[in-house]
Amino acid sequence: MLIELDQIERQAIASLNEVNSQESLEQWRITHLGRSSSLMQVFDALGQVPKEDRPAIGRRANQVKQALEAGLMERTESIRQERIQCSLLTERLDVTLPGRPVPRGRLHPSTQIHRRIAVILEEMGFQPYLSRDVETDDVNFQLLNFPPHHPAREMQDSFYVTGGFPGGDIQADNPILLRTHTSPGQIHAMREYAASNPQNPPSIRIYLPGMCYRYEQVTARSEFQFTQVEGLAVGKHITFSDLKGTLDDFARRMYGQSVRTRFRAAHFPFTEPSAEMDIECFVCNGAGCPVCKRSGWLEVLGCGMVHPVVLMNGGYDPQLYTGFAFGMGPERMAMLRHRIEDIRYFWSNDLRFLEQF
Ligand code: PHE
Repeated sequence: MLIELDQIERQAIASLNEVNSQESLEQWRITHLGRSSSLMQVFDALGQVPKEDRPAIGRRANQVKQALEAGLMERTESIRQERIQCSLLTERLDVTLPGRPVPRGRLHPSTQIHRRIAVILEEMGFQPYLSRDVETDDVNFQLLNFPPHHPAREMQDSFYVTGGFPGGDIQADNPILLRTHTSPGQIHAMREYAASNPQNPPSIRIYLPGMCYRYEQVTARSEFQFTQVEGLAVGKHITFSDLKGTLDDFARRMYGQSVRTRFRAAHFPFTEPSAEMDIECFVCNGAGCPVCKRSGWLEVLGCGMVHPVVLMNGGYDPQLYTGFAFGMGPERMAMLRHRIEDIRYFWSNDLRFLEQF
């Protein structure tokens, strides 16, 4: 029996070395240490062994059992270690690999120039005033002193909206449209300021940024939507030289201290007198080049003294108050600045264009 135990031990240990998975390890345990294993049969047969041989065989059987259990534990641990090693090798992380780049967004060129304009105007004391995109004909045109048959009111030039404002009637003589410029905001702002103190309306220094819409043939030079930034100052004793000084200062802050400006007479129904401001071409410094069409000057904005009729429509007495207004087109300004030759790039969402800014 002792010889049998030696054999049992040898065989078991030998086969244990071939075991190399969790599942076959369990199978090995059942075979060599389980209820019906040869070793357990030796324990079962111990009763029939002659008394004098029993202690020696029993001791040896226990030794073998302990040896097999120890071997099992050892093998279990080494299989576990092998597994970890293996997964470390196959699931290896290369921490030196560069990460996947996270694409960073950026501001739209139009937003960038809006922010620059806003910073400058706010430093100069103008506050932002946000006005609506959807207007009535009277605020967009009539109250701004547009004559009844002004061509801008025609179907070709404005987007008229079917239906009315919630709760409002559709009035045939006062249709709803998308604003064609930011100037109707002047009326809303003046009325709001005047309402705060109708006897003695406060003075106003605001700028009005936003999208404008015109029913236009889309070309390299004109879009059906574009942004504007309007400026409005109303108060007592405001003169044309305030307008000039303010816009000169604005141009210097926007285009550099040495920029020269000039004012040309122009016409807008809601300002009188009206002007257009040019700046000296920053590409050729006034010498004449393709960007300024050889004139040496670039037109940057329209402006003028607020028309008395418009002041009155806003709730300000033109006998006591005067004011000036100006309006500029940020896309046009960005086009000049970056020499963008096609205005359609701004709203066509082409990343090849947008990523350049
Ligand atoms: N609203 C004018 C336009 O769209 C610009 C302007 C604004 C002119 C204010 C004078 C004063 O062309």
